[in-house]
Amino acid sequence: MTSIAVESLSARRTLERSEEEQLRHLETLTAFDRASKYGMPEGVTQSATWTAYERKLIHDSYWKDTVGDFLAREIQHEKKFITLWSCTNYHEFLVGSSMGRTLQTAKGRRGKITYLMYTLRKLSGHKGSHSDFIIENSKLPYVDGGVEGAASLKYLVSRRWECFSELISRYLKEDTLFVDLGSGWGRYSTLAASVFPNLDVISAELSDSGRTCTEMITQAFGFRIQTVAFNYLDWGLLVERLSQSRRPNLIVFSNHSIEQVPYLNIRLFEELIGLDKNLRFIHIEPIGWQISNDPAILRSSTPPLRKFEEWGGYNKNLFLIVQNLLRRGLIDVDEVAPNFLATDSNRNAGSLLVFHKKA
Ligand SMILES: C[S@@+](CC[C@H](N)C(=O)[O-])C[C@H]1O[C@@H](n2cnc3c(N)ncnc32)[C@H](O)[C@@H]1O
Repeated sequence: MTSIAVESLSARRTLERSEEEQLRHLETLTAFDRASKYGMPEGVTQSATWTAYERKLIHDSYWKDTVGDFLAREIQHEKKFITLWSCTNYHEFLVGSSMGRTLQTAKGRRGKITYLMYTLRKLSGHKGSHSDFIIENSKLPYVDGGVEGAASLKYLVSRRWECFSELISRYLKEDTLFVDLGSGWGRYSTLAASVFPNLDVISAELSDSGRTCTEMITQAFGFRIQTVAFNYLDWGLLVERLSQSRRPNLIVFSNHSIEQVPYLNIRLFEELIGLDKNLRFIHIEPIGWQISNDPAILRSSTPPLRKFEEWGGYNKNLFLIVQNLLRRGLIDVDEVAPNFLATDSNRNAGSLLVFHKKA
């Protein structure tokens, strides 16, 4: 796994930019509201489709249609977790992503070529279905450790499993509570519970259907996962819940969920840091563009388009918040890895940020 060590000069330099330098950097790439830099002031709201209410509506139907219905059918037949997990990832891609639908319906150049290859294989006696062929033979764009490539869905889903397990192993201590913020259907909560059985896991998710998926898997495999209704913009109950945990070590994790909130409120981080716990934050979020304007990084990390205006578009202030917490001596940063991983597109890679509360 390629990762840019914080000791490297360029990573240090980006972390130590002044607030004004970072704001100017953001403003050159997207529409940014300075008044919201550490959280939207009272009375200011996100653009219509970016409110938590709208995000919940979108994800309630998305997780039900792409994962919930599939799990309801498959879960009782599948005894091995890794098989269920992989097949859920495949199914979500095939029905939930535009690339998956293009391939399945044999539309577009890529879909037609894949279907032609499948037909030729069938003529030569190959047995599997069209979906199986896509899973094993598609050439999907990805980014791994900052490097672009193309590989099959099967390989990319296995990379998700490996990357996550390796990453968490690096930071895991005895007696840890793993908190998955914006956990969706439980992709990484359930993986964590399966690979690290001594871990307690909290899956904090906005959508009801996402939490229902996680609960189905938890019940079927006897995992130590609790689900919690959670909104990044209203974090009081979560912080209270975490303060009650007897586990001294917390890993606060997110994968492509902070992206859903244009401006996070820095108080969420301040209150988490205020807990009487050892705390490590591990975030994989599409913020390469917030870190650097190097064209090689911008190739796989697209800033929110200006048409979404100041109060819409994917997250704009995570790196600004981390820089602020670092300046104030509240945290130390362990890793910054722009364009760490993208397994279904090469334009919106997740960058890795790992930091911990200063003792
Ligand atoms: C792209 S999905 C990622 C889900 C999961 N982390 C994964 O890796 O599969 C984004 C998730 O963020 C959640 N989300 C959106 N807005 C949120 C908010 N304001 N607070 C908490 N979660 C939110 C959505 O419901 C959705 O499940």
